[in-house]
Amino acid sequence: MPFDVVQLREQFAALHQVSDGQPICFLDGPGGTQVPDRVIHRMSDVWVKGNSNLGGAFASSKAITKIVLEARSYCQALLNAPLASNIVFGANMTTLTFSLSRAISRDWHSGDEVIVTELDHYANVSPWKQAAKDRGAIIKQARIDTKEGSLDVPHLLSLINDKTRLVAVSCASNTTGSITHIKPIIETAHRFGAQVYLDAVHFAPHHLIDVQEWDCDFLVCSAYKFFGPQVGIAYVASPWLEIVEPYKVEPAPNVGPARFETGTQSFAQIAGVTGAIDYLASLGGDQGGLRTRLKQAYQDIGDYEQGLSSRFLAELKSLPNVSLIGRSEANHQVRTPTFALRFKGHTPQELAQALGAKNICVWSGHFYAIGLINALGIDQKEGVLRVGCMHYNTESEIERFFAWLRPWLS
Ligand SMILES: Cc1ncc(COP(=O)(O)O)c(C=O)c1O
Repeated sequence: MPFDVVQLREQFAALHQVSDGQPICFLDGPGGTQVPDRVIHRMSDVWVKGNSNLGGAFASSKAITKIVLEARSYCQALLNAPLASNIVFGANMTTLTFSLSRAISRDWHSGDEVIVTELDHYANVSPWKQAAKDRGAIIKQARIDTKEGSLDVPHLLSLINDKTRLVAVSCASNTTGSITHIKPIIETAHRFGAQVYLDAVHFAPHHLIDVQEWDCDFLVCSAYKFFGPQVGIAYVASPWLEIVEPYKVEPAPNVGPARFETGTQSFAQIAGVTGAIDYLASLGGDQGGLRTRLKQAYQDIGDYEQGLSSRFLAELKSLPNVSLIGRSEANHQVRTPTFALRFKGHTPQELAQALGAKNICVWSGHFYAIGLINALGIDQKEGVLRVGCMHYNTESEIERFFAWLRPWLS
């Protein structure tokens, strides 16, 4: 049974704000999503019931330990990780990627090769470039398909050889919404003995991840992009959990995910991650275990979002002086409902400012996807206007966006 969008919006206080007599229209999801009440409650509970650290012999500390273990097992279900201990928390995806890249690259040597892409957010490029530079390894960058605003997968595959140590690639572009078919990349990389590090930050709110199906080595995502708070989540496949040697403080744990979790974690945020996954599962009804409900929820999210994409693309077609960068088909298997637009006669900034003044939240710029912006020959200072829908958005919000935009373009 698909979810009822009116009902689920009830759970998001932020979606009910009114400013200047107008509801706020959040079409900025790829930059960060709104959070349902249960996330806020789980977070505030941590402080209400006693802020504490791990490992104490008293109730509030024991409660925090339980919260972290529970969050790991919720993330295990979300990613289909074999074990809860494959889940590592950190400040955000970027910080996790910098620290994992330092650790993973310890045994790279001069002449080793590392592959990044032009499609990726640079949080999955710069850490690898810097690690490669430190080790004398060579960086190769897979091209985008400029017509589609997507990854040129055959080009990436052609770069993989027996010198390749790691392929860093995103599952979906945070700018054009293009989804990358990851499986052949992983299979080819593994055939050559290379590891694969996946950025699933933009993918996670739209598609259910299955790290076992993909057989990736590492995967990172960020809870604030899937209805939770600002926490980074890494999946580290079992062999690497013990083999990769993190930079850590000597007395800190030497086994399990805690090896990678430097310092004290944000426990309230981690509690919020559980809330976000619990919310997602609730969209899948009340039958079956967590993973089963998540599967149903994501199926419904996909169907609903594909409807939003269809509506957006149909409206866009009727407009002059605007071009879409990215795939023009609504198919949820190849794109998320994230749209990159350029305009004749107006900069993305000008339109984002004017939209912001009308309480329609969209972003303009390069979104750190500078490989893509450069490859498309777009001025980095301008970038694109990004309109991003989530499953809590409605067709009437899309209509409102276009009703506002139309007079600017005619
Ligand atoms: C695709 C993608 N990867 C990585 C990041 C960086 O994530 P974080 O803000 O958690 O460091 C972002 C943030 O916008 C993103 O969209």
